[in-house]
Amino acid sequence: MDITVSRAEDIAVLERRMPSSSVEGCHAARFARQEAGRSTYLIPWLDGRPVGHAEVRWTGCEAAEVRLAQPGCPEINGLLVWPESLRSQGVGTSLVRAAERLARERGVGAMGLGVGDDNRRAAALYARLGYRPTVAYVDRWAYLDSDGVRHERADLCTFLVKELR
Ligand SMILES: CC(C)(COP(=O)(O)OP(=O)(O)OC[C@H]1O[C@@H](n2cnc3c(N)ncnc32)[C@H](O)[C@@H]1OP(=O)(O)O)[C@@H](O)C(=O)NCCC(=O)NCCS
Repeated sequence: MDITVSRAEDIAVLERRMPSSSVEGCHAARFARQEAGRSTYLIPWLDGRPVGHAEVRWTGCEAAEVRLAQPGCPEINGLLVWPESLRSQGVGTSLVRAAERLARERGVGAMGLGVGDDNRRAAALYARLGYRPTVAYVDRWAYLDSDGVRHERADLCTFLVKELR
């Protein structure tokens, strides 16, 4: 498996294989943030196909509670392995490690990520990788339904942090 930084020509392929489910988290928005220097959008490839993604947001988590408690801490956002049949084979771990490598190269001393309070398996993975709970927050996001109507969601989450030094 290779992990690459996304390129403009990958966005249509990603959209076909893993249709975007949120407005701010759509592939085009993630790539635009990368182009603006605000994030790095990492893509794992298996046999020439994208099998997930992770956006390293150098500007940190959007939630005010997290920004106050963990100022300057970057965030791994939108971690996904797809299709489900490829999960539990180390792809997610490789994505997290690739994000941590990028942070160390930049001299960043910590990495954070948010996990939904009902996502026990992901939380177990992050604990194994050395991430510790810091602050509870509400993740607010939106999606467009098939009629183009916008729906707002609010999920209870915990922000986890790992010291990299
Ligand atoms: C969480 C996720 C990215 C992990 O990727 P992965 O490639 O399966 O991770 P790894 O193979 O490196 O590690 C596997 C571990 O991930 C965790 N995990 C979390 N959700 C899982 C799922 N739906 N299926 C399999 N493993 C999952 C478990 O701790 C698992 O360990 P186990 O196999 O011993 O139970 C992936 O499972 C996924 O895309 N889940 C759905 C989206 C999601 O929950 N994203 C995280 C948002 S915070």
